[in-house]
Amino acid sequence: MKHTDIKVLLNNHDFTGKEITVCGWVRTSRNSKSVAFVEVNDGTSLKNIQVVVEKSADADYKEPRVGTAVKVTGTVVEGRNNTVEINTVPSGVEILGVCPSDYPLQKKGCSMEYLRSMPHLRGRTNTFNAVWRVRSVLAQAIHKYFQNNNYVYVNTPLITGSDCEGAGEMFNVTTIGYSDEYKNEEEYYSNDFFGRRAGLSVSGQLEGEVAAMAMGKIYTFGPSFRAENSNTPKHLAEFWHIEPEIAFAELPDVIEIAEDMLKTVIRELLDTCPDDMKFFDAHFEKGLVARLEELISHDFGKVTYTEAIRLLQESGENFVYPVEWGCDLQTEHERYISEKVFRKAVFVTDYPKEIKSFYMKQNPDGKTVAAVDLLVPGVGEIIGGSEREADYDKLVAAMNERNMNLDLYSDYLDLRKFGSVPHGGFGLGFERLIMYTTGMSNIRDVILYPRTVGSIR
Ligand code: 4AD
Repeated sequence: MKHTDIKVLLNNHDFTGKEITVCGWVRTSRNSKSVAFVEVNDGTSLKNIQVVVEKSADADYKEPRVGTAVKVTGTVVEGRNNTVEINTVPSGVEILGVCPSDYPLQKKGCSMEYLRSMPHLRGRTNTFNAVWRVRSVLAQAIHKYFQNNNYVYVNTPLITGSDCEGAGEMFNVTTIGYSDEYKNEEEYYSNDFFGRRAGLSVSGQLEGEVAAMAMGKIYTFGPSFRAENSNTPKHLAEFWHIEPEIAFAELPDVIEIAEDMLKTVIRELLDTCPDDMKFFDAHFEKGLVARLEELISHDFGKVTYTEAIRLLQESGENFVYPVEWGCDLQTEHERYISEKVFRKAVFVTDYPKEIKSFYMKQNPDGKTVAAVDLLVPGVGEIIGGSEREADYDKLVAAMNERNMNLDLYSDYLDLRKFGSVPHGGFGLGFERLIMYTTGMSNIRDVILYPRTVGSIR
């Protein structure tokens, strides 16, 4: 169907006086005696195109209802305030799909909860239209950043036999149901599709390390799955994960890359989507654009876990979760550190080894590992990473301490046998980045179809 994107038309006065066709959905429709005004949106831009229909050409003209899909052919004219409009006659408005009166998005100002109940339609509101565009622009900016810096994009398996984070949050992948006929789990799994236990990957990191040990710098960009029973505004059971892995890199290098990557992609977002960002600033977080500009023009903060614990203990705040050295930082702690102490993005490093994963490089103090989390105001953690343990014996010892089955990780251990190098990487939660850059406060509102505990559609 030959037509012009509304975005192209709105940004280009060269079309003035020319005949043009646009397609889209009716956002508003007003009728007066001699003319009708129809605002049409096709998803390419936040702004609608106004269509002015000269009704005198057809007395029977019926205004299309909100939600109707239309194809409009008419002449491009200059509207008021330097805008672009289309002038047409009733026969220039072809109805492609009618929209009856029970269309749920007739009224403006529907609540986010209400919109969440219709994931298949909510994309037609300004808010979700803008979110999906920002999501797309951020995705390409991330690819561009890594491609420009010589990283190789790799696709790691989604079905895996090993639990990367070791937190027992893996969804099982099975084609047979468990039954009492099996003597034990081992017998059950041996009868299953893969002949052993398999699950959906919680992270592509372990395979990412395999690729980095050949290609030097790699990144993944794909879904990760976590069967966490966390019904919070920032947890999904299926989220999109960006995981760079870098050979010949130590923790400070990993931190530098994470900061540079975030600043670069946020710059690109602000430059590419000014209308969408202004919209979020006006409707979701006052001062959002200024906050992001501020973020990218200053160094991120840095603090060790031990120092962060001291700051929290001396804060005088009444936290729900008690703070002591060795505890996992909760969202309330993360937000206090980034919002009250640093008032900006802050890297927290060197966590106690007991609360972090087996693969992290053990620090000389014997108590902490070379881990890093990036905390941002409003959201909390958006990045988790580390330098990896590159020493075979130390890695085996850490795995044994956690009673891990070494046979399942033989490929991973081989990397430490054959030309092991210092290396590290991080994981960025894509939806958390979108929350942070749009001011959307619930992760369910930045992904097309959220999957959360007890909810799938
Ligand atoms: O801190 P995490 O668990 O780290 C890893 O998975 C490492 N393997 C990453 C690496 O070093 N390559 O997860 C990384 C990020 C978190 O900071 C968070 O942004 C996001 O993934 N994330 C989630 N996002 C949405 N819903 C969930 N349930 C998430 N769990 C983690």
